[in-house]
Amino acid sequence: MTESLFIATCRGRPGERPPVWFMRQAGRFLPEYRAIREKHSMLDVIRTPELAAEVTLQPVRRFPLDAAIIFADILNPLIGMGIELDFVKGEGPKIFNPVTCLKDVERLTVPAPEDNVGYTLEALSLVRKELNNSETALIGFSGAPFTLSCYLVDGEGSKNFQKTRALMLSDMEAFHALQEKLTDLVSDYLVAQANAGAEALQLFDSWLGILGPAEHRLFVAPYIDRIVQRVKASVDVPVIYFAPGAAALFPHFLSHGADILGVDWRMTLTDASRATQNQIVLQGNLDPLVLAFAPPEYLDAAVDRIIDEGRSLKGHIFNVGHGLIPQTPIQQVARVVERIRES
Ligand code: CP3
Repeated sequence: MTESLFIATCRGRPGERPPVWFMRQAGRFLPEYRAIREKHSMLDVIRTPELAAEVTLQPVRRFPLDAAIIFADILNPLIGMGIELDFVKGEGPKIFNPVTCLKDVERLTVPAPEDNVGYTLEALSLVRKELNNSETALIGFSGAPFTLSCYLVDGEGSKNFQKTRALMLSDMEAFHALQEKLTDLVSDYLVAQANAGAEALQLFDSWLGILGPAEHRLFVAPYIDRIVQRVKASVDVPVIYFAPGAAALFPHFLSHGADILGVDWRMTLTDASRATQNQIVLQGNLDPLVLAFAPPEYLDAAVDRIIDEGRSLKGHIFNVGHGLIPQTPIQQVARVVERIRES
């Protein structure tokens, strides 16, 4: 089978145009997704392989995208550790038994992915079967330990996750013990996804940007290093590391050994490339609000700028700088995909 444009670009062999997919492309901006969610809860969709596979494929049917991302969340794998999680309508994820101390960490188990998230592994193989002999690659993903800890300790979304940072600084032993367990969970989960059919893996570190450089070095970087090493030792798939809102830390990401770094919209691809000596493939970085709200000509100019900057990179995967928002008009997404395919 020939290598898809997406995978070739991941491996530093770019083609004539950048491949394109969108974070949160399987989600609420699509009426066909909302129709499924009217009948099934978020967790039901995630835990029913046929539904998860269907939702994964919805955006790929509508737009000629170069990759699909498996439908799940970064948080559902925590359930098997002993965490009570739900997605509360209008509020987002809630954890009803948050981690507060070393004892709580010790109580968490690290189940095998087959026992914990077998439903996602099954969904991956269903989607992979559908996409076989197509140009569309399949992406698996996980949350990174620090970002997962933000929800585990604070219990819900927050502006600056003060409880998490308080535990990190006041009980370093507990915090490191938590990172160890999550590193095991995440590494095994990513490897299992690759074995189930994921052709690339993305690690989301969405809240990294709240940390300063010293805490990043001590509490985050060593665990990302280990996850990438463990994944690379087991499976030969490209790894994407995405930590939005952390431009000041960007130069440090190079040494993790990932194949691709995600870039948010707050920095240019050119600056991200300079910060990493043009050594790595970059993914990004259209502002999702430009996609949702800007007039078409303004959107076109933004897209062209990103495509142009991407041409001087080691490789460029077109994406948004953070997930699509529910208000994103379908025509704007179609417009961007078409423009990239004609670039
Ligand atoms: O990208 C995709 O299309 C694949 C599926 C996916 C979801 N969540 C589905 C989802 C992915 C890759 C995620 C990752 C995720 N989840 C992250 C990292 C990426 C980022 O946005 O920074 C984070 C921090 C979460 C945690 C989470 N899940 C939050 C904060 C929320 C509520 C707020 C929101 O953005 O919707 C969720 C719920 C969630 N996860 C939805 C979807 C489609 C909305 C659920 C619904 O109401 O239908």
